Amino acid sequence: MLEKLPDFIKENGGSKTLIVTDEGVLQAGHAERTLSILEKANCEALVFGGAEENPTNNCVSKCRDFALEAGVDLLIGLGGGSSMDTAKGCNFLLTNGGEMKDYHGYGKATHPMLPFIAVPTTSGTGSECQSYALISDDETHAKMACGDVKALAQVALLDPELTASQPKLVASLTGLDALAHALETAVCLPRNPISNIHSLEAFRLLASSIHSVTNGTASLEDRSNMLLGAAFAGLAIENSMLGAAHACANPLTAFFDVTHGHAVSLMLPHVIRFNRLDPEIDEIYRSYESFIPLVGLRKLDLADWLDTLKDTAGLKSLSEMGIGAADVKRLAGGALHQWTGRFNPCPVGLSDFEAIYSNAISDVVRCV
Ligand SMILES: [Fe+2]
Repeated sequence: MLEKLPDFIKENGGSKTLIVTDEGVLQAGHAERTLSILEKANCEALVFGGAEENPTNNCVSKCRDFALEAGVDLLIGLGGGSSMDTAKGCNFLLTNGGEMKDYHGYGKATHPMLPFIAVPTTSGTGSECQSYALISDDETHAKMACGDVKALAQVALLDPELTASQPKLVASLTGLDALAHALETAVCLPRNPISNIHSLEAFRLLASSIHSVTNGTASLEDRSNMLLGAAFAGLAIENSMLGAAHACANPLTAFFDVTHGHAVSLMLPHVIRFNRLDPEIDEIYRSYESFIPLVGLRKLDLADWLDTLKDTAGLKSLSEMGIGAADVKRLAGGALHQWTGRFNPCPVGLSDFEAIYSNAISDVVRCV
């Protein structure tokens, strides 16, 4: 599939391409292979390998300087969410000037942007299908969601062989995050017929293969299901929103450096148990449960199934990471200020967040 990249570049009028990527992707050899494919097709291209995890305005500005000096007319984001977001951010600055904070929000770019092709090497963020770049402020490290319809990729090239280089833990964490995207968009307040189609298809694909990913036996078909499922989940986010599991996850990352996918995976089962007390939401979850494969001979509900996945992936619990009852108030206070929480189907107040964190810390199965 990666071999089709030159056709997509030509279709989008690219004569000099910048591949934006990161150190890990460089080491895995994906950038070299991409360059070789482009060279054979007489497509001029160069590589910016300085994308960083949680890219900042400074990182994006370096990429912009590189692109400006090279005089490129098409951008490729090759890697995980950080590489794709750096490429999208670079596109804002290169074509519209200023700093990333000028684009915080939606639709603030007034000039046309360069064509952009997203080539994910992980199955998780769904950034390849989203018009937002998540860029951190240089000083505060607060994440700014900078969106514009012009920042959407013209092409999302999904080649499952590119995801084979992910270590098992990374594949598990990104896959569990994609699963959370499918399940949070499925019930969030702005859900709608378009997002519902993508949430359900994402879940069906991800549910069929996530167990193989977490136990390290994923086939190419499993990787294909995960990659397409993550992209559909990205489209579901693009057309709706997330919910309380992401609101709970962000303070765990900010205060305790817990990886995003890990934090979401620990919190999601408890948010599901909280949400399904609402009969309408319970009915949606039940419709999703029909796609959960049998575990042994048992049919599990969503939250219990998610618990088995995080156990199979070998994820540490909150208490194993030294997070305890004394941290609940600070975490709940942080979660209350996360804007994704506002879109949770059931209102989540401070005491609700405290209860959800307390249950996650003591791993209580029933929330309320
Ligand atoms: Fe996420």
